[in-house]
Amino acid sequence: MDFKVADLSLAEFGRKEIRLAEHEMPGLMAVRKEYADKKPLRGAKITGSLHMTVQTAVLIETLVALGAEVRWASCNIFSTQDHAAAAVVVGPDGTPDDPKGVPVFAWKGETLEEYWWCTDQALRWPDGSGPNMLLDDGGDATLLVHKGAEFEKAGAVPSAAEDDPEEWKVILDRLRRTIAEEPGRWTRTAAGIKGVTEETTTGVHRLYEMERNGTLLFPAINVNDSVTKSKFDNKYGCRHSVIDGLNRATDVLIGGKVAVVCGYGDVGKGCAEALRGQGARVIVTEIDPICALQAAMDGYQVTTLEDVVETADIFITATGNVDIITADHMARMKHQAIVANIGHFDNEIDMAGLARVPGIKKINIKPQVDEWVFPDGHSIIVLAEGRLMNLGCATGHPSFVMSNSFTNQVIAQIELFTKTDQYPVGVYRLPKHLDEKVARLHLDALGVKLTRLTKKQAEYIGVDVDGPYKPEHYRY
Ligand code: NAI
Repeated sequence: MDFKVADLSLAEFGRKEIRLAEHEMPGLMAVRKEYADKKPLRGAKITGSLHMTVQTAVLIETLVALGAEVRWASCNIFSTQDHAAAAVVVGPDGTPDDPKGVPVFAWKGETLEEYWWCTDQALRWPDGSGPNMLLDDGGDATLLVHKGAEFEKAGAVPSAAEDDPEEWKVILDRLRRTIAEEPGRWTRTAAGIKGVTEETTTGVHRLYEMERNGTLLFPAINVNDSVTKSKFDNKYGCRHSVIDGLNRATDVLIGGKVAVVCGYGDVGKGCAEALRGQGARVIVTEIDPICALQAAMDGYQVTTLEDVVETADIFITATGNVDIITADHMARMKHQAIVANIGHFDNEIDMAGLARVPGIKKINIKPQVDEWVFPDGHSIIVLAEGRLMNLGCATGHPSFVMSNSFTNQVIAQIELFTKTDQYPVGVYRLPKHLDEKVARLHLDALGVKLTRLTKKQAEYIGVDVDGPYKPEHYRY
């Protein structure tokens, strides 16, 4: 088996944590049980590009239990938990000397070149074939296949402009090499893919954009916008892991500090609530009047970053947008202000601009924590080099909330793989009854007793006794 992880001897520790996580992931385990005999993913060759954590290990082993062949890479250079990666490679029945699990290409602290090499490996089976399904988080695997096929069709890989982001240059370089070595590979790979299931807001944006431009090559299920994903993982997950990231990275007392949360979408709502829970005075920035009004009514001050950049102590970006905190903003911040991003990509904070400030010095405090000292002597602390701090500095979301997200992922994989004909190229969401099913699978573990509609009540509000209970336009 081909694979590349940090250290297979960590597998035993990983396996112990996977065992504990399985108990906390009732949705995934119920799906495993439901489909144990049918194996609806038999014949599926799934390439996954999603943070290689303990929770993801339970997802991967669920896909395998349902019959799939799987290859995996992480979707971020810092988010891999090396013990989880090792345990997945070794598998429940293997040993470090005789691994019998799933090929994983991921370790904590990859370079950008290594990251795209890993994504490439996950997309390539040893016999030279590609996957027939993608499971993506942020859309990097989808991007590599689409750009590869696009450049093959055009007959050339464009040269990068000097001011292009470093990562784009790395992607172009990888595509140039792979296209030269295996002509037509990306076109064949794209043609063989039945569909992709996408995990996060940012990846979903990319998919809808491709659908609009007419460049989308295969159908996609938007897992993010299942209610049991974005209204739970993005919100309650970040409510947990934003504090975890801050504590493990800095251990600064949050109570009494002024914390700015940029963006009051699902992720921002969770972050703001968590910071307030710790006693911080939370300020929100927004561009959308609806979210700004929500923040105000939730009791937060809403203002612009310019107004508070010199006085706040902690800055968290949660927008999925670019250039939120600029080098100029960082130059004006208080001594030892903490700057961190929890959005998917590292372009919310202008790290390249920060590095270009004349006379600036970077002192590494510990992995994923850097102090940047300005020429006037004041400094700021940047977490995870501007990449998502909850996975870079801590261990991401806990199992229970990820069980909701990943149960949606598994159901979406089964949908696309087994009902391919029903999904022409386009971007889809899972039907509401499946969303409700995911929630239902998590109620018992929390001791929730659900009220059952009477027939009369169901008729009165115009729904079926067994659901769905809300119309499509309902927003939760
Ligand atoms: P969302 O679309 O619900 O929220 C983003 C908010 O940012 C919107 O309300 C938007 O109006 C606001 N915004 C956009 N530009 C802004 C600007 N210049 N200044 C202030 N506000 C601005 O998206 P969601 O689901 O909250 O996701 C945000 C990001 O977090 C995405 O990149 C997503 O992929 C990522 N994500 C990260 C997770 C993690 O564990 N770190 C978990 C889930 C999502």
